[in-house]
Amino acid sequence: MAERRRVVDRLPTFPWDRLAPAKKVAAAHPDGIVDLSVGTPVDPVPEVIQRALGEAADTPGYPATYGTPRLRESIADWLGRRHGVVIDPAATLPTIGSKELVAWLPTLLGVGPGDTVVHPELAYPTYDVGIRLAGATPVASDGLTALGPARVPLVWINSPANPTGRVLPVEHLRKVVAWARERGAVVASDECYIDLGWDGVRPVSILHPDVCGGSHEGLLAVHSLSKRSNLAGYRAAFLAGDPALVTELLEVRKHAGMIVAAPVQAAMVAALDDDSHADEQKERYRVRRELLRGALERAGWRITHSEAGLYLWASLPGHDAWSAVRLLAEHGILVAPGEFYGPSGAGHVRVAFTASDERVAAAVKRLEAVAG
Ligand SMILES: Cc1ncc(COP(=O)(O)O)c(C=O)c1O
Repeated sequence: MAERRRVVDRLPTFPWDRLAPAKKVAAAHPDGIVDLSVGTPVDPVPEVIQRALGEAADTPGYPATYGTPRLRESIADWLGRRHGVVIDPAATLPTIGSKELVAWLPTLLGVGPGDTVVHPELAYPTYDVGIRLAGATPVASDGLTALGPARVPLVWINSPANPTGRVLPVEHLRKVVAWARERGAVVASDECYIDLGWDGVRPVSILHPDVCGGSHEGLLAVHSLSKRSNLAGYRAAFLAGDPALVTELLEVRKHAGMIVAAPVQAAMVAALDDDSHADEQKERYRVRRELLRGALERAGWRITHSEAGLYLWASLPGHDAWSAVRLLAEHGILVAPGEFYGPSGAGHVRVAFTASDERVAAAVKRLEAVAG
């Protein structure tokens, strides 16, 4: 039989399986589990979006990989209106959620064996997965200066960050762009939490003129409607940036059938054109975040970064990530150990505030009991 090089052998084990024992403990709580381990939306898909999806249900023909002209306009308009990014609608491209793009971008860009790709030290695990799928070497680092002569065709950044909620200042983003341009590297900036800044923090896109000097050369911003508009179930995301890179990716994605469903494209237009549902959803998260943050702090936890996004990056003195996970699981609260996101997360847990008001209230009550 022919030898097959199994792709799966290049990938890490799916970390969430390791949380199963803690989940079992938490699920045994008499008032039920409060699952704060994953950042999945729990509130309804806004009416205006559901309607648009339904109205586009009768679409028997193949949709365009490039998306409808209307969708590209909505993307460009939203980037300008909400984030001060001036972009030609032609330089945008819908994707089937952003996880798909994160996992395949290195491959689609022709990154391969012998190449090094940098991603943040503490990071959403799919950057590493995508780099391995391409056969390249992942390097988890927040600094670029220590890379030496390695061939680096692609750098991932993520601000606001999962899991820490850290926001990179304009100055930092500018340095990344300058470094990449000097080396001829593409910067892919995962901005899926960009609308979720707290306490007056306003995350800035890599495509903002203050960062890139008005040229998008070598830059790609990755956006998602999963969090902003509760559309994780629709798989609705997009990228925008360097027109030449977008055209190149469009060509490959056309061949590969990476097409967003037509009703989802229509739903994306409705989502992007309407800010009121996003503002309402953000307010829900703001309240949940405040409640959980207060309760954790009163119970002796420390919160670091967490100035944007959907997570509190929390530590409890005297505990490592896994003992903190176990402790909370005994109170029926499930959180993610920080080491899922990299070795330097071993002292933290990630607490998502994507649970219903009722479940957040239950968690707060339990944490208050611990605090005494
Ligand atoms: C940093 C980051 N990027 C990308 C994604 C993928 O989101 P989606 O595929 O729903 O667009 C997530 C999901 O949690 C994330 O945290």
